[in-house]
Amino acid sequence: MYALPKVVAPFVARQPTVKIAVLVSGSGTNLESILEAEKSGRLGEAKVVLVISSKAGVFALERARQRGIPRQVIDPKSFPTMRSFDQDLLNALQAAQTDVVCLAGFLRKLGPDVIRRFEGRILNIHPALLPKHGGAGMYGHFVHEAVIAAKETVSGCSVHLVDDEFDHGAVISQAQVPVLPHDSPQDLAVRVLEQEHILYPKTIADFCHKLKGVLK
Ligand code: GRF
Repeated sequence: MYALPKVVAPFVARQPTVKIAVLVSGSGTNLESILEAEKSGRLGEAKVVLVISSKAGVFALERARQRGIPRQVIDPKSFPTMRSFDQDLLNALQAAQTDVVCLAGFLRKLGPDVIRRFEGRILNIHPALLPKHGGAGMYGHFVHEAVIAAKETVSGCSVHLVDDEFDHGAVISQAQVPVLPHDSPQDLAVRVLEQEHILYPKTIADFCHKLKGVLK
């Protein structure tokens, strides 16, 4: 009769793992914060199984390589139609048995096939307090410029569910930072990004913990 050693028990109790795919297009500092959280046990039941980039050669891919995470480039420019790009993305996500999709600086709108298949299980982080300062064209420095131009005294970041409109789905969590007099967009970006790196891994961990009850 074979008895499991006691030390195995906590790992068995933590099953099933919630498999995450992180979609990127750039430097990947949010990806890094998610991978670091996983390494230090702060991502709970969530596990990053795949990184997909819409651009070759971005540093986010190097971060994934350094940590041994499977990675793939799916560049919309190599597809004849957005529908075929969407289908390839969907195939890659399904092949990795993805449960949750996390956008982290992914500069492409997801198509209807992916959104329908993963409805309610796609998260994004946006560098402002939604519903303000979101929507088409609101990314990177444009967001912080808009916040400063609107004379906001508070900004921050938002994690929200993704639907078929830019930065539109239900907000799940937010963190605030002050907008200081004389802030440049870069000053504000640094302050907000620092909060993103705390908020996103924590929100993913909480979200996946709740989802785990739904998954078999
Ligand atoms: C972050 O500011 C995030 O809020 C936005 O895109 C940026 C990605 O930065 N969606 P990084 O590639 O994670 O450094």
